[in-house]
Amino acid sequence: MIGYGGDWNPEQWPEETWAEDVALMREAGVNQVSVGIFSWSLVEPVEGRYEFGWLDRVMDLLAAGGVRAFMATPTAAPPPWFGRTYPEALPVDADGRVLFHGSRQGFCPSSPVYRDKALAIVERIGERYRDHPALAMWHVHNEYGCHNSRCYCDASAAAFRGWLVARYGTLDALNEAWGTAFWSQRYSDWGQILPPRATPSFHNPGQQLDFRRFSSDALLDLYRAERDLLAGLAPQVPATTNLMAGAHWDMDYWSFAREVDVVSNDHYLIGKDPHIDLAFAADLSRSLGRGRPWLLMEHSTSAVNWQGVNRAKRPGELRRNSVQHLARGADAIMFFQWRASRAGAEKWHSAMLPHAGTGTKVWREVVGLGGLLKDAAEVAGSTVTSDVAILLDYGSVWAQDHPAQPTTLHKPVEVIKSWHAELWKLGVTCDVVHPESDLSGYRLVLVPALYLVTDHGATNLERFVADGGTVLAGPYSGIADEHDRIRLGGYPGAWRDLLGVTVEEFFPLEEGESVELAGGGIGAVWSELAHATTATVLDTYVTGEPAWTRNEWEGGAAHYLTTLLAGADLARVLGAVCAEAGVPVSATPGVEMVRRAHADGRGYLFVINHSGADVVVAATGVGLSDGDPVDGELTVPAGEVRIVRETR
Ligand code: GAL
Repeated sequence: MIGYGGDWNPEQWPEETWAEDVALMREAGVNQVSVGIFSWSLVEPVEGRYEFGWLDRVMDLLAAGGVRAFMATPTAAPPPWFGRTYPEALPVDADGRVLFHGSRQGFCPSSPVYRDKALAIVERIGERYRDHPALAMWHVHNEYGCHNSRCYCDASAAAFRGWLVARYGTLDALNEAWGTAFWSQRYSDWGQILPPRATPSFHNPGQQLDFRRFSSDALLDLYRAERDLLAGLAPQVPATTNLMAGAHWDMDYWSFAREVDVVSNDHYLIGKDPHIDLAFAADLSRSLGRGRPWLLMEHSTSAVNWQGVNRAKRPGELRRNSVQHLARGADAIMFFQWRASRAGAEKWHSAMLPHAGTGTKVWREVVGLGGLLKDAAEVAGSTVTSDVAILLDYGSVWAQDHPAQPTTLHKPVEVIKSWHAELWKLGVTCDVVHPESDLSGYRLVLVPALYLVTDHGATNLERFVADGGTVLAGPYSGIADEHDRIRLGGYPGAWRDLLGVTVEEFFPLEEGESVELAGGGIGAVWSELAHATTATVLDTYVTGEPAWTRNEWEGGAAHYLTTLLAGADLARVLGAVCAEAGVPVSATPGVEMVRRAHADGRGYLFVINHSGADVVVAATGVGLSDGDPVDGELTVPAGEVRIVRETR
């Protein structure tokens, strides 16, 4: 079964609508919904007084309707009584501003009283629903850190110090790691250490990096506490929390992914090529779960309400987006939210059941998608295999976030996404992996922007190349160690030998400035004075300095770019390294083709035509929805999708 549904928030509606909701869910093919996500103030209207009657009736209706419930813990939105009674638990920003209740996520992640109150309601919910026939999964919290990923209050300061003691053991070790001889920052007592609150000038980079790590860990710790409590009450029920992978960069999702029973992710269209950004988020979600099927917990049927100008989806876009996620490994397609709100801050957010009701484009598409997903039931459990991996480390992104860099125009997430986007256009599906993970299954590893790399990560990449792999690295990668201290002796210190290159100085480019390559391309944002030591120079700036190099290293080879390329220039280099690594490239403009397969070899080809013209692609098998044979060629009409059960 492919899961289908969304967040159901019946508490926003008179009870008369609830039965109609469940009937319409059945009409649309909805088989699972998340409930109770923002219900704390209704379940516990007054501290210590719980009112479950309404939620019992919601769960009973779902059970009777055959719709599975992902029961949420409501801890992402503490009620007004919480903020009034425990003002010390409210989040505080770097400028010392207290953020009051009246919205959501109004709590400090390190607050002991928040933790107590959250666990108290989680325990009640766990006890009450652990054996309910509708219960299929615990949906713990909602989007940890969405609005409160870092808190700078005194409780956070104390927790940060505790985290630092555990990490460094001694103040000497911390002083050494942070380089506190600089600007007279040497600490002589743990109590002197603060979160990076507003200061006259730049923060210590080690302090800011460790605070980002601590803040992510503080949220993860809250997840673990809720999950463990629920697991104790209902060991048979899996737990997840919905991530925002690909869109949100404040949490280290590699650590979150290790703690969930199944990865679930939320994605909203954004950017110039939103469907390509979607593909990145989906590839990352799959990779976070080490390739296992994952759940798309939220996306939108049409417009969101938080982007200023909120573009409605064009006819067919909902279907294409959903099938993209499915193709890239999702075993559930869900939306925020089931019924569009009448009131509240998200009343202008699209939903499965729009304000205008069932006589609408959105509803017709929702019902159509339910049919498609039913036909695709046999896809569930199959996986995607990639020859190519892109390295991603949250710590590296955070370290580079420090404002005192050679240039602030080099934005690692944008660079990573731009490489992924060009691969998408080349028809190459890739994984996104942590630098210390097992790379042996890949032919090609890309390192678009990895400023900080641990010693383990550095040797891991060397071993991959030694064993016959191909690497392409971008500039400003392999520069710093895990404490954000420069690796000395010529850049990029971690991989000078591997790349056969040493860089003596960076020459960042102003906005609009560029370097011309002798081979015809244009580099932007970054240039550098590099010398090939053992590498062969494949292209230079017209002024003669190396632009693209290739170094043979034991069984494999490592390529290096000294500037940022984009579009066709980047595609040319990516195409060359794919060819060298034996990675097939097959591009039909605007057409996305991805494969999933079961361990026993049953495979599926997903073809998503994002273009405005009909296309013909190579495929052999049987159409999943219509059962029609596909004999070598498949026509996919403009804007349409096809899934083929392959016989090859
Ligand atoms: C998500 C959130 C939902 C809803 C949605 C709107 O971040 O989990 O509750 O706010 O965004 O796009």
